[in-house]
Amino acid sequence: MPGQRANSESRVLFVCLGNICRSPTAHGVFQALVDNCCLESCIGVDSCGTGNWHVGEPADQRAIAEAARRGYDLSPLRARQVCADDFAQFDYILAMDHMNLQELKSMCPADYRGHLGLFLTFASGVDLEEVPDPYYGGADGFSHVLDLVEAAGEGLLQEIRRAHTAR
Ligand code: 4NP
Repeated sequence: MPGQRANSESRVLFVCLGNICRSPTAHGVFQALVDNCCLESCIGVDSCGTGNWHVGEPADQRAIAEAARRGYDLSPLRARQVCADDFAQFDYILAMDHMNLQELKSMCPADYRGHLGLFLTFASGVDLEEVPDPYYGGADGFSHVLDLVEAAGEGLLQEIRRAHTAR
């Protein structure tokens, strides 16, 4: 597993393009799931973007507002860009869409032993491969993102618990 950590810990990195809409939403939702199960000492959560346009900025106000309506606080999050060291630090690197997954694959070291893939593969009952980019749309796009990442987050948590039990 990547990094020098206690072997009970899994670290999850959510990746989109700007790190201001989809991946911070996934970050906040999944962190809440982890916290609700009292697993914060076992599962680390972070997010980033493949692009650098919004580095240092908070999440998009529409993402913060829609998440707050469901009880998630995205306000402390700040955008950052993915870096080579992320492949040493994270066991699960989960892209929101194929374009960002391709970018991550182009950076991924040959000896990476974690899981690099699409986040929605963990969503049961969802007939989509990608979390649609809500940046140029309205509030309903951000609500749809929340629906998708809540479903995928549940599946991911089950998978991490299953993998941990199987160790
Ligand atoms: P995200 O959405 O990748 O879900 O954070 C976007 C945010 C910003 C831009 C594109 C997508 N942008 O072009 O600045």
